[in-house]
Order: sequence, then C-alpha cells, then structure tokens
Amino acid sequence: MYILGIETSCDETAASVVTRDGNGKPQLLSNVVLSQIDEHSEFGGVVPEIAARAHLSAIDHIISQALLEAKTDLSNIEGIGVTSGPGLVGGLMVGLMTTKAISASRGIPYLGINHLEGHALTARLTDDVAYPYLLLLVSGGHSQILRVDGLGDYTRLATTIDDAVGEAFDKTAKLLGLGFPGGPNVEKAAQTGDATRFKFPMPLRGQETLNMSFSGLKTAIRTEAQKLVPLNEQDIFDLCASMQKTVAEILANRCERAMVQCDDINTLVVAGGVASNIEIRARLDLLCEQNDYTLIAPPLKLCTDNAAMIAWAALERFERGEKSPMDLAPRSRWPLDGSTESVIGSGRKGAKV
Ligand code: KG4
Ligand code: ZN
Repeated sequence: MYILGIETSCDETAASVVTRDGNGKPQLLSNVVLSQIDEHSEFGGVVPEIAARAHLSAIDHIISQALLEAKTDLSNIEGIGVTSGPGLVGGLMVGLMTTKAISASRGIPYLGINHLEGHALTARLTDDVAYPYLLLLVSGGHSQILRVDGLGDYTRLATTIDDAVGEAFDKTAKLLGLGFPGGPNVEKAAQTGDATRFKFPMPLRGQETLNMSFSGLKTAIRTEAQKLVPLNEQDIFDLCASMQKTVAEILANRCERAMVQCDDINTLVVAGGVASNIEIRARLDLLCEQNDYTLIAPPLKLCTDNAAMIAWAALERFERGEKSPMDLAPRSRWPLDGSTESVIGSGRKGAKV
C-alpha cells in the first residue's frame, strides 16, 4: 500500500510517500519539506495569512516532488493522509482542499490525521516500535507525556499548564536577540555556554502532579539578563546553556515519575521539534539507562514537522479500514486524548507570533 502524506498545519509545506516492504517493515520512500522560515523571520513568528498563502503556492510542486523522489505517481497511490488539525486553519484548509481534490478526481480514499498522532507514531515508522510505550511529545505548541497503548489509544499523563517547551525556547531566543526559530538558535548558542552559571527554577518539581510549567523560565532568564545589561556574547551563551539544561532536567524528572506510574512499559519515545535537541536527547538517554528503559528518538528530520509521520499514521488507520468523508472540516484544536480536561497551553497549536 503506497500512502501519500500531506502536512500544512503550521509553517512547513510537506509531502511524503510511505509503504511497507514485503515483510511488513515500514519504508519511507520520500520526505519533502519546504520550510517557510524566511517568509516569517522578519515578524519573529509564524503569521497565519502568510503561511496559508505560501502553502498554496508550494503544495502542488511539493507533492510532485515527493512522488518523483519515491519513483512513483498518483496511479500507484492507494490512500492519502492529510493533517486536518490541530493547527492554523488557513494552512490546514490548503492541505485538506488539495487532498479532497485529488481524492475526488482520482478516486483515492483519504484520511484526516491528527498532527499530534503523526508525531506520536513516528517511532513506529522509523524503529518499528511495538505498543505500548511512553511518549514525551515536545513541540512548539505541546508538551505532554502520554501512554500509547495502541492506534488511537492515548492516555495523557501530563501536560504543560502554560507555555509549551518549544515556545520557551522561542521566547528565550527572542529575548536574547537570537531570532526565529528559537530552538535551534538557542541550542547552537548553548554549545559554547556554561550550563552551571545560572540556576533557574523548576516549577512543580516534587509535587504530586506530573504536569510541567515553563512560563516562569522566561521571566527568570529576563531577570538574570537585566542584571547583566549590556550582555556580552558569553553571557548569552551561558544563559542559553543554563536554560537548556533546566529544560532537560524538568523533562527527565517528569518522565521518571511517569515511568514509576507505568511499570508495565519499558520504552520511552520522544517526538516533536524539541526532540531534535541533542542535549535533551542525551539527558533522556541517561534517564533511560538508569531505569532499564529503551529510548527511541527518531532522526532529527523526522522530529520537526514533516509529512512522513502523517503518511504513516494514515497507513496504520487505512489498514484498519478507515476513511474520511468529503465534508471533513479542519480543527484548530484537537487534543490527542479527548477524555482529559483541557488545560490552557495543552492541545493547542496556533500562531507563534
Ligand atoms: O514539531 P514542530 O516542528 O512544530 C510544532 O508542531 O510545533 O516543533 C517546532 C518547535 C519550535 O518551537 C522550535 O523552536 C522547537 O520545536 N525546536 C527546538 C529545536 N528544533 C526545533 N527546540 C530546541 N532545540 C532544537 N534543536
Ligand atoms: Zn509538530
């Protein structure tokens, strides 16, 4: 089964083709991602209208490119998976309308996929990970720890009560003049920084809850930065290194508590844009080693937004016989675990401006 995936929920226009080989092993045939960073950088964040227009002008070409790289064409595609939420509605509509047009004109079934499910299942595409596993989902709009017991069977164990981790990186970068997108810039600056120079707070640590909080981190960094004005380059590197270390500690601490709750699980999967951070991966690796867990961290290019994860989630759902109706509407909010109460900052993915 060749599945085409399409992703337009934020600021990447992406298309991909996945399948299984003769032995049932997942195969990634192409993964094309066009980032809109240049279009948005002068505004310091993603501007929804610009994003939607950029998706519209790029999507046909990106789909053609993904088919070409997979050495196939639409006649071989047996299903299409498209992100239908959560995300910026203008962008989601571009992907969804394009998909519906191909579906109707070619008679190919399609599925609207939850972007977060895409991140959640990436490790099954890259590492053929078996259910159940613990999932640390850390991106620009989400910070959650979930139990993944099967396709569509997600239990949220923890969420952020305010900012997402990626948002904390983006805000730190903005505050220190490192530009957009924040995560990779903070990580780069941190490489030559002293992570022990500043002690930042770790809110909610030691409390019963597994939830996380990151908004205080920005305030703490601002307070330290104000004391140092004018900041030299080394100050900025040290602030970034200390911030990154604090985030890694918070995430490791919460994951460790989740491991205690889920004593029938021994695999931790990390997903989402922040999962491409090497320091955070290293800290989680250590945590897993200490707790007899296996850490599965997808390759960097499959941690940040892409369409391979959407194609893969669709493949799993097509195999279960599902398909979406033509009147499916995009959803700006769409929590993975619908049974949990909504917490501000969770289940949300919107403009980062
Ligand atoms: O998953 P993603 O590509 O998009 C969303 O679904 O949000 O994640 C983007 C987020 C941004 O906030 C970005 O700053 C952060 O992931 N990010 C990083 C790194 N690369 C991307 N954060 C820390 N370190 C990185 N290397
Ligand atoms: Zn994402």
